[in-house]
Amino acid sequence: MKQQKRKPEQEIIYQIYPKSFQDTNHDGIGDLRGIINHLDDLRDLGITMIWLCPIYPSPMEDNGYDVADYKAIHPDFGTMEDMDRLIEEAGKRDISLMLDLVLNHTSSRHKWFEKAVQDPGSKEHGYYIFEKGKEEPNNLRSVFGGSVWEKVRGRNEYYFHSFGKGQPDLNWENPALRQEIYQIIEFWKRKGIKAFRMDAINFIKKPEKWRRMEADGPDGRCKCTKVVRNHPGLLDYLHEMNEKCFKSDGIVTVGETAGLPYDQLEEYIGKNGCFTMVFDFRHADLDIRSGDEWFSRAEWKTADLKKRLEVSCSHIQKYGPGTSFLENHDQPRVTTKYLRKDQDDPYGKKMLGMLQMGLRGVPFLFQGQELGMINFERTDVSELEDISSIDQFGRARECGYSAEEALHFVNLRSRDNARVPYPWNEEKYGGFSDADPWLACNEQAQKRRICFENQKNDPDSVLSFYKKLISLRKSSDWSDTLNAGRIRFEEGNEEVIAFTRQKEEKELLVLCSFADHPVKTLCRKGTLILDNYKETDMNVKVDEEGMIILRPFEAMMIETEKRRENDE
Ligand code: GLC
Ligand code: CA
Repeated sequence: MKQQKRKPEQEIIYQIYPKSFQDTNHDGIGDLRGIINHLDDLRDLGITMIWLCPIYPSPMEDNGYDVADYKAIHPDFGTMEDMDRLIEEAGKRDISLMLDLVLNHTSSRHKWFEKAVQDPGSKEHGYYIFEKGKEEPNNLRSVFGGSVWEKVRGRNEYYFHSFGKGQPDLNWENPALRQEIYQIIEFWKRKGIKAFRMDAINFIKKPEKWRRMEADGPDGRCKCTKVVRNHPGLLDYLHEMNEKCFKSDGIVTVGETAGLPYDQLEEYIGKNGCFTMVFDFRHADLDIRSGDEWFSRAEWKTADLKKRLEVSCSHIQKYGPGTSFLENHDQPRVTTKYLRKDQDDPYGKKMLGMLQMGLRGVPFLFQGQELGMINFERTDVSELEDISSIDQFGRARECGYSAEEALHFVNLRSRDNARVPYPWNEEKYGGFSDADPWLACNEQAQKRRICFENQKNDPDSVLSFYKKLISLRKSSDWSDTLNAGRIRFEEGNEEVIAFTRQKEEKELLVLCSFADHPVKTLCRKGTLILDNYKETDMNVKVDEEGMIILRPFEAMMIETEKRRENDE
Protein backbone atom coordinates (compact mmCIF):
# COMPACT_ATOMS: atom_id res chain seq x y z
CA MET A 1 0.00 0.00 0.00
CA LYS A 2 1.26 3.47 -0.79
CA GLN A 3 2.06 5.49 2.28
CA GLN A 4 -0.42 8.30 2.71
CA LYS A 5 0.70 11.76 3.64
CA ARG A 6 -0.71 12.51 7.04
CA LYS A 7 -0.65 15.67 9.04
CA PRO A 8 1.16 15.25 12.35
CA GLU A 9 -2.09 15.60 14.26
CA GLN A 10 -3.50 12.60 12.40
CA GLU A 11 -0.86 10.25 13.78
CA ILE A 12 -1.54 7.65 16.46
CA ILE A 13 1.86 6.79 17.88
CA TYR A 14 2.75 3.57 19.66
CA GLN A 15 5.94 3.37 21.66
CA ILE A 16 7.91 0.16 21.59
CA TYR A 17 10.58 -0.77 24.10
CA PRO A 18 12.46 -3.17 21.83
CA LYS A 19 14.20 -5.03 24.62
CA SER A 20 10.84 -6.14 25.99
CA PHE A 21 8.52 -6.52 23.02
CA GLN A 22 9.24 -9.92 21.46
CA ASP A 23 12.27 -12.16 21.45
CA THR A 24 12.77 -14.36 18.39
CA ASN A 25 16.21 -15.91 18.91
CA HIS A 26 15.81 -17.38 22.37
CA ASP A 27 18.15 -15.08 24.27
CA GLY A 28 15.49 -13.49 26.47
CA ILE A 29 15.96 -10.09 24.81
CA GLY A 30 13.43 -8.55 22.45
CA ASP A 31 14.62 -7.84 18.92
CA LEU A 32 13.71 -6.14 15.65
CA ARG A 33 12.46 -9.36 14.10
CA GLY A 34 10.09 -9.67 17.02
CA ILE A 35 8.63 -6.31 16.12
CA ILE A 36 8.37 -7.26 12.44
CA ASN A 37 6.45 -10.41 13.46
CA HIS A 38 3.83 -8.30 15.22
CA LEU A 39 3.32 -5.58 12.64
CA ASP A 40 -0.06 -7.02 11.67
CA ASP A 41 -1.20 -6.82 15.29
CA LEU A 42 -0.11 -3.20 15.40
CA ARG A 43 -1.89 -2.44 12.15
CA ASP A 44 -5.04 -4.05 13.58
CA LEU A 45 -4.75 -1.83 16.63
CA GLY A 46 -4.86 1.08 14.21
CA ILE A 47 -1.63 2.90 14.95
CA THR A 48 0.11 4.95 12.28
CA MET A 49 3.60 5.33 13.71
CA ILE A 50 5.99 3.41 15.95
CA TRP A 51 8.31 5.29 18.30
CA LEU A 52 11.19 2.92 18.72
CA CYS A 53 13.30 3.35 21.87
CA PRO A 54 17.05 3.27 21.15
CA ILE A 55 18.26 0.30 19.12
CA TYR A 56 21.89 1.42 18.75
CA PRO A 57 24.97 -0.39 20.06
CA SER A 58 25.24 0.39 23.74
CA PRO A 59 26.69 -1.03 26.94
CA MET A 60 23.11 -0.73 28.23
CA GLU A 61 23.88 1.04 31.48
CA ASP A 62 20.72 3.02 30.80
CA ASN A 63 19.13 0.50 28.46
CA GLY A 64 20.28 2.03 25.22
CA TYR A 65 20.07 5.69 26.23
CA ASP A 66 23.85 5.40 26.38
CA VAL A 67 24.67 5.22 22.68
CA ALA A 68 28.03 3.83 21.57
CA ASP A 69 27.42 4.19 17.83
CA TYR A 70 24.61 6.22 16.29
CA LYS A 71 24.77 4.60 12.88
CA ALA A 72 24.53 0.93 13.76
CA ILE A 73 22.22 -1.59 15.42
CA HIS A 74 22.93 -3.33 18.71
CA PRO A 75 23.59 -7.02 17.93
CA ASP A 76 21.07 -7.99 20.63
CA PHE A 77 18.40 -6.29 18.52
CA GLY A 78 19.56 -7.60 15.16
CA THR A 79 21.28 -6.12 12.14
CA MET A 80 20.96 -3.11 9.89
CA GLU A 81 19.24 -5.43 7.39
CA ASP A 82 16.60 -6.16 10.03
CA MET A 83 16.17 -2.45 10.56
CA ASP A 84 15.76 -1.81 6.83
CA ARG A 85 13.21 -4.60 6.71
CA LEU A 86 11.33 -3.18 9.66
CA ILE A 87 11.09 0.20 7.94
CA GLU A 88 9.93 -1.45 4.74
CA GLU A 89 7.45 -3.88 6.29
CA ALA A 90 5.98 -1.17 8.51
CA GLY A 91 5.67 1.06 5.45
CA LYS A 92 3.67 -1.63 3.65
CA ARG A 93 1.16 -1.39 6.48
CA ASP A 94 1.13 2.39 6.35
CA ILE A 95 3.05 2.64 9.61
CA SER A 96 6.05 4.91 9.83
CA LEU A 97 8.90 4.91 12.29
CA MET A 98 10.01 7.48 14.81
CA LEU A 99 13.55 6.99 16.06
CA ASP A 100 14.76 7.99 19.48
CA LEU A 101 17.69 10.36 19.15
CA VAL A 102 19.85 10.67 22.24
CA LEU A 103 21.92 13.73 21.49
CA ASN A 104 22.60 15.27 24.87
CA HIS A 105 25.13 12.58 25.69
CA THR A 106 26.81 9.47 24.33
CA SER A 107 27.96 6.35 26.10
CA SER A 108 31.41 6.55 27.67
CA ARG A 109 32.12 3.65 25.30
CA HIS A 110 31.47 5.76 22.20
CA LYS A 111 34.66 6.00 20.16
CA TRP A 112 34.58 9.79 20.42
CA PHE A 113 34.71 9.64 24.18
CA GLU A 114 37.36 6.95 24.25
CA LYS A 115 39.52 9.16 22.02
CA ALA A 116 38.74 12.24 24.09
CA VAL A 117 39.96 10.55 27.26
CA GLN A 118 43.02 9.06 25.65
CA ASP A 119 44.14 12.27 24.01
CA PRO A 120 43.27 15.68 25.51
CA GLY A 121 44.61 17.29 22.33
CA SER A 122 42.20 15.42 20.04
CA LYS A 123 39.28 17.01 18.24
CA GLU A 124 37.01 14.57 20.11
CA HIS A 125 38.13 16.10 23.41
CA GLY A 126 36.30 19.18 22.24
CA TYR A 127 33.11 17.15 21.74
CA TYR A 128 32.60 16.76 25.49
CA ILE A 129 32.55 18.94 28.57
CA PHE A 130 35.82 18.73 30.47
CA GLU A 131 37.02 20.93 33.32
CA LYS A 132 40.56 20.95 34.62
CA GLY A 133 41.24 20.89 38.35
CA LYS A 134 41.92 18.78 41.37
CA GLU A 135 38.41 19.11 42.65
CA GLU A 136 34.94 18.79 41.24
CA PRO A 137 34.00 22.11 39.63
CA ASN A 138 30.77 22.28 41.65
CA ASN A 139 28.25 20.32 43.69
CA LEU A 140 25.59 19.42 41.15
CA ARG A 141 23.87 16.06 41.47
CA SER A 142 23.27 13.99 38.35
CA VAL A 143 19.80 12.77 37.46
CA PHE A 144 20.76 9.21 38.40
CA GLY A 145 22.49 10.21 41.64
CA GLY A 146 25.99 11.19 42.73
CA SER A 147 28.06 13.97 41.24
CA VAL A 148 27.68 15.18 37.66
CA TRP A 149 31.48 15.23 37.58
CA GLU A 150 33.63 12.18 37.03
CA LYS A 151 37.39 12.32 37.27
CA VAL A 152 39.40 11.24 34.26
CA ARG A 153 41.74 8.54 35.42
CA GLY A 154 45.35 9.72 35.72
CA ARG A 155 44.59 13.39 34.99
CA ASN A 156 43.40 16.36 37.01
CA GLU A 157 40.39 16.69 34.83
CA TYR A 158 36.68 16.00 35.16
CA TYR A 159 33.98 15.32 32.61
CA PHE A 160 30.36 16.35 33.01
CA HIS A 161 27.39 13.98 32.89
CA SER A 162 23.78 15.02 33.51
CA PHE A 163 22.67 11.38 33.78
CA GLY A 164 24.80 8.30 34.61
CA LYS A 165 28.57 8.43 34.67
CA GLY A 166 28.54 6.19 31.62
CA GLN A 167 26.69 9.00 29.76
CA PRO A 168 29.08 11.92 29.24
CA ASP A 169 27.33 15.07 27.95
CA LEU A 170 28.20 16.39 24.52
CA ASN A 171 29.51 19.90 24.05
CA TRP A 172 26.99 21.57 21.74
CA GLU A 173 29.02 24.77 21.90
CA ASN A 174 31.37 23.14 19.42
CA PRO A 175 30.24 23.63 15.78
CA ALA A 176 32.19 20.54 14.67
CA LEU A 177 30.18 18.42 17.10
CA ARG A 178 26.95 19.90 15.81
CA GLN A 179 27.99 18.95 12.27
CA GLU A 180 28.54 15.36 13.40
CA ILE A 181 25.06 15.34 14.87
CA TYR A 182 23.46 16.68 11.71
CA GLN A 183 25.17 13.92 9.77
CA ILE A 184 23.70 11.31 12.07
CA ILE A 185 20.25 12.70 11.42
CA GLU A 186 20.96 12.74 7.67
CA PHE A 187 22.01 9.11 7.83
CA TRP A 188 18.65 8.05 9.27
CA LYS A 189 16.66 10.31 7.00
CA ARG A 190 18.28 8.63 4.02
CA LYS A 191 17.06 5.32 5.40
CA GLY A 192 13.51 6.62 5.22
CA ILE A 193 13.03 7.77 8.81
CA LYS A 194 10.67 10.74 8.90
CA ALA A 195 10.20 11.28 12.60
CA PHE A 196 12.40 11.66 15.63
CA ARG A 197 11.89 11.80 19.37
CA MET A 198 14.51 14.09 20.85
CA ASP A 199 15.73 12.63 24.13
CA ALA A 200 16.54 15.00 27.00
CA ILE A 201 16.98 17.68 24.38
CA ASN A 202 16.52 20.58 26.76
CA PHE A 203 19.72 19.61 28.60
CA ILE A 204 22.09 20.43 25.75
CA LYS A 205 22.88 24.04 26.70
CA LYS A 206 25.27 24.45 29.61
CA PRO A 207 26.18 27.59 31.56
CA GLU A 208 29.39 29.43 30.78
CA LYS A 209 30.66 29.10 34.33
CA TRP A 210 30.02 26.42 36.94
CA ARG A 211 29.13 27.78 40.36
CA ARG A 212 28.49 26.07 43.65
CA MET A 213 24.77 25.78 44.33
CA GLU A 214 22.79 25.72 47.51
CA ALA A 215 22.35 22.10 48.61
CA ASP A 216 18.87 20.57 48.32
CA GLY A 217 19.56 17.17 49.91
CA PRO A 218 21.51 15.55 52.74
CA ASP A 219 24.30 14.76 50.25
CA GLY A 220 25.18 18.46 50.02
CA ARG A 221 24.36 18.53 46.35
CA CYS A 222 21.83 20.34 44.20
CA LYS A 223 19.75 18.85 41.39
CA CYS A 224 21.51 19.51 38.10
CA THR A 225 18.20 20.16 36.35
CA LYS A 226 18.08 23.52 38.11
CA VAL A 227 21.08 24.57 36.06
CA VAL A 228 21.35 22.54 32.88
CA ARG A 229 17.70 22.16 31.89
CA ASN A 230 16.09 24.84 29.73
CA HIS A 231 19.17 27.01 30.08
CA PRO A 232 19.03 30.34 28.21
CA GLY A 233 20.57 30.01 24.78
CA LEU A 234 19.22 26.50 24.28
CA LEU A 235 16.90 27.66 21.52
CA ASP A 236 19.75 28.83 19.32
CA TYR A 237 20.89 25.23 18.94
CA LEU A 238 17.39 23.88 18.50
CA HIS A 239 16.52 26.39 15.78
CA GLU A 240 19.78 25.68 13.98
CA MET A 241 19.13 21.93 14.06
CA ASN A 242 15.60 22.48 12.78
CA GLU A 243 16.86 24.62 9.88
CA LYS A 244 19.57 22.16 8.94
CA CYS A 245 17.77 18.86 9.45
CA PHE A 246 14.03 18.97 9.83
CA LYS A 247 12.20 21.94 8.46
CA SER A 248 12.51 21.65 4.71
CA ASP A 249 11.94 17.89 4.72
CA GLY A 250 8.77 17.97 6.78
CA ILE A 251 10.27 15.78 9.48
CA VAL A 252 8.04 15.19 12.52
CA THR A 253 9.82 15.86 15.79
CA VAL A 254 8.82 15.60 19.40
CA GLY A 255 10.98 17.12 22.07
CA GLU A 256 11.37 15.63 25.53
CA THR A 257 11.25 18.95 27.29
CA ALA A 258 10.43 18.38 30.95
CA GLY A 259 9.94 21.60 32.88
CA LEU A 260 9.60 23.80 29.81
CA PRO A 261 7.90 27.04 30.89
CA TYR A 262 4.63 27.62 29.07
CA ASP A 263 5.64 31.13 28.06
CA GLN A 264 8.34 29.62 25.83
CA LEU A 265 6.00 27.30 23.94
CA GLU A 266 5.71 29.48 20.89
CA GLU A 267 9.44 29.18 20.21
CA TYR A 268 9.13 25.42 20.39
CA ILE A 269 5.90 24.55 18.62
CA GLY A 270 4.63 27.83 17.19
CA LYS A 271 4.64 28.63 13.49
CA ASN A 272 8.41 29.02 13.45
CA GLY A 273 9.02 26.61 16.29
CA CYS A 274 11.96 24.23 16.40
CA PHE A 275 9.86 21.08 16.91
CA THR A 276 6.53 19.73 15.74
CA MET A 277 5.46 18.95 19.29
CA VAL A 278 6.79 18.62 22.81
CA PHE A 279 5.95 16.47 25.81
CA ASP A 280 4.60 18.26 28.85
CA PHE A 281 5.01 16.04 31.92
CA ARG A 282 3.14 18.05 34.52
CA HIS A 283 0.04 15.84 34.57
CA ALA A 284 2.10 12.65 34.50
CA ASP A 285 4.22 13.72 37.46
CA LEU A 286 1.42 14.89 39.73
CA ASP A 287 2.12 12.04 42.16
CA ILE A 288 5.64 13.38 42.81
CA ARG A 289 6.22 16.20 45.25
CA SER A 290 6.92 19.27 43.17
CA GLY A 291 10.59 19.85 42.41
CA ASP A 292 11.54 16.75 44.35
CA GLU A 293 12.91 13.31 43.48
CA TRP A 294 10.45 10.73 42.29
CA PHE A 295 10.54 8.65 45.46
CA SER A 296 8.94 11.63 47.17
CA ARG A 297 5.20 11.12 46.94
CA ALA A 298 2.47 13.74 46.64
CA GLU A 299 -1.21 13.47 47.43
CA TRP A 300 -3.52 14.47 44.60
CA LYS A 301 -7.18 14.56 43.69
CA THR A 302 -9.01 14.25 40.38
CA ALA A 303 -9.50 18.01 40.40
CA ASP A 304 -5.69 18.48 40.50
CA LEU A 305 -5.27 16.26 37.49
CA LYS A 306 -7.99 18.14 35.67
CA LYS A 307 -6.35 21.46 36.49
CA ARG A 308 -2.98 20.34 35.17
CA LEU A 309 -4.50 19.04 31.95
CA GLU A 310 -6.50 22.19 31.52
CA VAL A 311 -3.55 24.51 32.00
CA SER A 312 -1.37 22.44 29.69
CA CYS A 313 -3.93 22.07 26.90
CA SER A 314 -5.02 25.69 27.00
CA HIS A 315 -1.44 26.91 26.61
CA ILE A 316 -0.46 24.42 23.95
CA GLN A 317 -3.52 24.95 21.75
CA LYS A 318 -2.56 28.58 21.27
CA TYR A 319 0.47 27.49 19.27
CA GLY A 320 0.43 24.07 17.68
CA PRO A 321 -0.17 20.38 17.98
CA GLY A 322 0.28 18.87 21.40
CA THR A 323 0.90 15.38 22.65
CA SER A 324 -1.51 13.28 24.67
CA PHE A 325 0.12 10.54 26.71
CA LEU A 326 -0.41 8.66 29.95
CA GLU A 327 2.56 6.30 29.89
CA ASN A 328 6.05 5.92 28.51
CA HIS A 329 9.21 3.94 29.31
CA ASP A 330 10.04 6.29 32.21
CA GLN A 331 6.61 6.25 33.81
CA PRO A 332 4.82 3.63 35.88
CA ARG A 333 1.57 2.13 34.60
CA VAL A 334 -1.18 4.70 34.48
CA THR A 335 -3.74 2.24 35.86
CA THR A 336 -1.89 1.98 39.16
CA LYS A 337 -1.02 5.67 39.19
CA TYR A 338 -4.44 7.14 38.48
CA LEU A 339 -6.82 4.37 39.62
CA ARG A 340 -4.80 3.43 42.72
CA LYS A 341 -6.63 0.63 44.60
CA ASP A 342 -8.87 0.16 41.57
CA GLN A 343 -5.93 -0.34 39.23
CA ASP A 344 -7.45 -3.46 37.71
CA ASP A 345 -10.96 -2.13 37.20
CA PRO A 346 -11.88 -2.66 33.54
CA TYR A 347 -14.14 0.40 33.45
CA GLY A 348 -11.41 2.52 35.00
CA LYS A 349 -8.92 1.31 32.41
CA LYS A 350 -11.25 2.12 29.53
CA MET A 351 -12.08 5.47 31.05
CA LEU A 352 -8.38 6.35 31.00
CA GLY A 353 -8.22 5.39 27.34
CA MET A 354 -11.19 7.66 26.61
CA LEU A 355 -9.51 10.47 28.52
CA GLN A 356 -6.32 10.18 26.50
CA MET A 357 -8.02 9.79 23.13
CA GLY A 358 -10.43 12.60 23.87
CA LEU A 359 -7.77 15.10 24.86
CA ARG A 360 -6.21 17.45 22.40
CA GLY A 361 -2.79 16.30 21.21
CA VAL A 362 -1.27 13.48 19.21
CA PRO A 363 -1.87 10.27 21.18
CA PHE A 364 1.21 8.33 22.27
CA LEU A 365 0.47 4.86 23.61
CA PHE A 366 3.07 2.83 25.41
CA GLN A 367 3.25 -0.91 24.81
CA GLY A 368 0.95 -2.77 27.21
CA GLN A 369 -1.14 0.29 27.99
CA GLU A 370 -3.70 -0.99 25.49
CA LEU A 371 -4.03 -4.13 27.62
CA GLY A 372 -4.50 -2.21 30.84
CA MET A 373 -1.17 -3.36 32.29
CA ILE A 374 -0.70 -2.63 35.99
CA ASN A 375 2.42 -2.05 38.11
CA PHE A 376 4.38 -4.88 39.67
CA GLU A 377 5.25 -5.33 43.34
CA ARG A 378 8.86 -6.38 43.55
CA THR A 379 9.78 -7.73 46.98
CA ASP A 380 13.47 -6.91 47.04
CA VAL A 381 15.61 -4.11 45.67
CA SER A 382 17.83 -6.70 43.97
CA GLU A 383 14.94 -7.36 41.56
CA LEU A 384 15.20 -3.84 40.16
CA GLU A 385 17.18 -3.36 37.00
CA ASP A 386 16.73 0.32 36.19
CA ILE A 387 19.65 2.55 37.19
CA SER A 388 17.27 5.25 38.35
CA SER A 389 15.14 2.94 40.51
CA ILE A 390 18.20 1.67 42.33
CA ASP A 391 19.37 5.23 42.94
CA GLN A 392 15.95 6.37 44.13
CA PHE A 393 15.77 3.47 46.57
CA GLY A 394 19.10 4.56 48.06
CA ARG A 395 18.07 8.22 48.13
CA ALA A 396 14.84 7.38 49.95
CA ARG A 397 16.84 5.41 52.54
CA GLU A 398 19.23 8.35 52.92
CA CYS A 399 16.25 10.57 53.63
CA GLY A 400 15.24 8.33 56.55
CA TYR A 401 12.66 5.99 55.04
CA SER A 402 12.75 2.30 56.00
CA ALA A 403 13.74 -0.28 53.39
CA GLU A 404 10.11 -1.35 53.21
CA GLU A 405 8.87 2.19 52.62
CA ALA A 406 11.60 2.88 50.09
CA LEU A 407 10.73 -0.27 48.18
CA HIS A 408 7.07 0.69 48.21
CA PHE A 409 7.83 4.11 46.67
CA VAL A 410 10.06 2.55 44.09
CA ASN A 411 7.47 -0.07 43.18
CA LEU A 412 5.00 2.74 42.58
CA ARG A 413 7.33 4.66 40.30
CA SER A 414 10.00 2.29 39.00
CA ARG A 415 10.71 2.67 35.32
CA ASP A 416 10.94 -1.14 35.22
CA ASN A 417 7.14 -1.22 35.52
CA ALA A 418 6.90 -0.13 31.92
CA ARG A 419 9.87 -2.18 30.81
CA VAL A 420 8.77 -5.69 31.78
CA PRO A 421 8.33 -8.17 28.92
CA TYR A 422 5.18 -7.64 26.90
CA PRO A 423 2.55 -10.20 27.92
CA TRP A 424 1.48 -11.90 24.70
CA ASN A 425 -0.13 -14.96 26.27
CA GLU A 426 -0.26 -17.10 29.39
CA GLU A 427 2.80 -19.23 28.68
CA LYS A 428 5.73 -19.27 31.06
CA TYR A 429 7.38 -16.05 29.99
CA GLY A 430 4.18 -14.57 28.69
CA GLY A 431 5.02 -15.63 25.15
CA PHE A 432 7.69 -12.95 25.09
CA SER A 433 10.46 -15.51 24.91
CA ASP A 434 11.08 -19.15 25.66
CA ALA A 435 14.25 -18.24 27.54
CA ASP A 436 14.55 -16.49 30.89
CA PRO A 437 13.89 -12.82 30.02
CA TRP A 438 16.43 -10.07 30.76
CA LEU A 439 13.90 -8.55 33.18
CA ALA A 440 11.41 -10.67 35.12
CA CYS A 441 7.79 -10.63 33.96
CA ASN A 442 5.17 -8.80 35.98
CA GLU A 443 3.74 -11.50 38.24
CA GLN A 444 0.91 -9.34 39.51
CA ALA A 445 -0.30 -8.80 35.94
CA GLN A 446 0.13 -12.49 35.16
CA LYS A 447 -2.03 -13.46 38.13
CA ARG A 448 -4.73 -11.22 36.78
CA ARG A 449 -4.35 -12.85 33.39
CA ILE A 450 -3.61 -9.61 31.57
CA CYS A 451 -2.31 -10.53 28.15
CA PHE A 452 -2.82 -9.87 24.47
CA GLU A 453 -4.21 -13.28 23.59
CA ASN A 454 -6.97 -13.10 26.21
CA GLN A 455 -8.13 -9.76 24.90
CA LYS A 456 -7.63 -9.95 21.16
CA ASN A 457 -10.95 -11.58 20.30
CA ASP A 458 -12.99 -10.35 23.25
CA PRO A 459 -15.19 -7.46 22.12
CA ASP A 460 -15.40 -6.20 25.72
CA SER A 461 -11.67 -6.19 26.43
CA VAL A 462 -9.61 -3.14 27.18
CA LEU A 463 -7.73 -3.81 23.95
CA SER A 464 -10.95 -3.81 21.92
CA PHE A 465 -11.98 -0.56 23.54
CA TYR A 466 -8.66 1.04 22.59
CA LYS A 467 -9.24 -0.13 19.03
CA LYS A 468 -12.61 1.62 19.01
CA LEU A 469 -11.08 4.79 20.41
CA ILE A 470 -8.31 4.73 17.84
CA SER A 471 -10.69 4.23 14.97
CA LEU A 472 -12.86 7.08 16.21
CA ARG A 473 -9.83 9.29 16.13
CA LYS A 474 -8.44 8.01 12.90
CA SER A 475 -11.32 7.34 10.59
CA SER A 476 -14.73 8.52 11.70
CA ASP A 477 -16.96 11.54 11.34
CA TRP A 478 -15.26 12.75 14.49
CA SER A 479 -11.66 12.52 13.33
CA ASP A 480 -11.30 16.22 12.59
CA THR A 481 -12.91 17.22 15.86
CA LEU A 482 -10.69 14.89 17.88
CA ASN A 483 -7.49 15.60 15.98
CA ALA A 484 -7.74 19.31 15.60
CA GLY A 485 -10.70 20.65 17.54
CA ARG A 486 -10.34 23.18 20.29
CA ILE A 487 -10.53 21.94 23.83
CA ARG A 488 -12.41 23.53 26.66
CA PHE A 489 -12.68 22.12 30.16
CA GLU A 490 -16.13 22.09 31.71
CA GLU A 491 -17.51 22.48 35.19
CA GLY A 492 -18.97 19.47 36.98
CA ASN A 493 -18.51 17.01 39.79
CA GLU A 494 -15.03 17.23 41.30
CA GLU A 495 -14.41 13.56 40.63
CA VAL A 496 -15.14 13.97 36.94
CA ILE A 497 -12.91 15.34 34.21
CA ALA A 498 -15.14 16.93 31.61
CA PHE A 499 -14.24 18.79 28.45
CA THR A 500 -15.53 19.59 25.02
CA ARG A 501 -13.77 19.31 21.70
CA GLN A 502 -15.09 21.56 19.01
CA LYS A 503 -14.39 22.19 15.36
CA GLU A 504 -16.55 24.21 13.02
CA GLU A 505 -20.17 23.14 13.66
CA LYS A 506 -19.31 19.96 15.49
CA GLU A 507 -18.90 19.53 19.21
CA LEU A 508 -18.12 16.54 21.41
CA LEU A 509 -18.51 16.40 25.16
CA VAL A 510 -16.23 13.97 27.00
CA LEU A 511 -16.99 12.94 30.60
CA CYS A 512 -14.56 10.78 32.59
CA SER A 513 -15.46 9.74 36.10
CA PHE A 514 -12.62 8.87 38.46
CA ALA A 515 -15.05 7.83 41.20
CA ASP A 516 -15.51 4.21 42.28
CA HIS A 517 -19.16 5.00 43.03
CA PRO A 518 -21.96 6.68 41.08
CA VAL A 519 -21.69 10.47 40.81
CA LYS A 520 -23.99 13.19 39.57
CA THR A 521 -22.46 15.70 37.21
CA LEU A 522 -23.35 18.36 34.68
CA CYS A 523 -24.01 17.18 31.17
CA ARG A 524 -25.90 18.24 28.07
CA LYS A 525 -28.34 16.27 26.02
CA GLY A 526 -27.07 14.73 22.84
CA THR A 527 -26.21 11.52 21.07
CA LEU A 528 -23.90 9.01 22.61
CA ILE A 529 -20.86 8.28 20.46
CA LEU A 530 -19.08 5.93 22.84
CA ASP A 531 -19.46 4.73 26.42
CA ASN A 532 -17.23 2.36 28.39
CA TYR A 533 -20.36 0.61 29.68
CA LYS A 534 -22.59 -1.32 27.32
CA GLU A 535 -25.24 1.14 26.30
CA THR A 536 -28.35 0.56 24.26
CA ASP A 537 -29.95 3.98 24.47
CA MET A 538 -27.96 6.39 22.33
CA ASN A 539 -30.09 9.28 23.49
CA VAL A 540 -28.38 11.13 26.32
CA LYS A 541 -30.93 12.81 28.59
CA VAL A 542 -30.32 15.15 31.49
CA ASP A 543 -32.58 16.13 34.42
CA GLU A 544 -34.09 19.61 34.94
CA GLU A 545 -30.84 20.82 36.46
CA GLY A 546 -28.87 19.55 33.49
CA MET A 547 -27.38 16.68 35.48
CA ILE A 548 -26.65 13.06 34.69
CA ILE A 549 -25.56 10.14 36.86
CA LEU A 550 -22.34 8.45 35.89
CA ARG A 551 -21.69 4.87 37.00
CA PRO A 552 -18.33 3.99 38.67
CA PHE A 553 -15.50 5.06 36.34
CA GLU A 554 -17.96 5.71 33.57
CA ALA A 555 -16.69 7.58 30.52
CA MET A 556 -18.86 9.00 27.79
CA MET A 557 -18.27 10.74 24.52
CA ILE A 558 -21.38 12.63 23.45
CA GLU A 559 -22.24 14.59 20.37
CA THR A 560 -23.85 17.76 21.68
CA GLU A 561 -25.24 20.79 20.04
CA LYS A 562 -22.63 23.44 19.55
CA ARG A 563 -22.91 26.14 22.14
CA ARG A 564 -23.92 29.54 20.85
CA GLU A 565 -20.95 31.85 20.47
CA ASN A 566 -22.15 34.18 23.23
CA ASP A 567 -21.91 31.22 25.62
CA GLU A 568 -18.14 31.21 25.11
C1 GLC B 1 15.33 10.48 28.84
C2 GLC B 1 14.86 9.08 28.62
C3 GLC B 1 15.28 8.22 29.76
C4 GLC B 1 16.78 8.25 29.86
C5 GLC B 1 17.30 9.69 29.92
C6 GLC B 1 18.77 9.74 29.67
O1 GLC B 1 14.72 11.06 29.93
O2 GLC B 1 13.49 9.06 28.40
O3 GLC B 1 14.84 6.89 29.65
O4 GLC B 1 17.20 7.55 30.99
O5 GLC B 1 16.71 10.51 28.97
O6 GLC B 1 19.04 9.50 28.32
CA1 CA C 1 16.46 -11.81 21.03
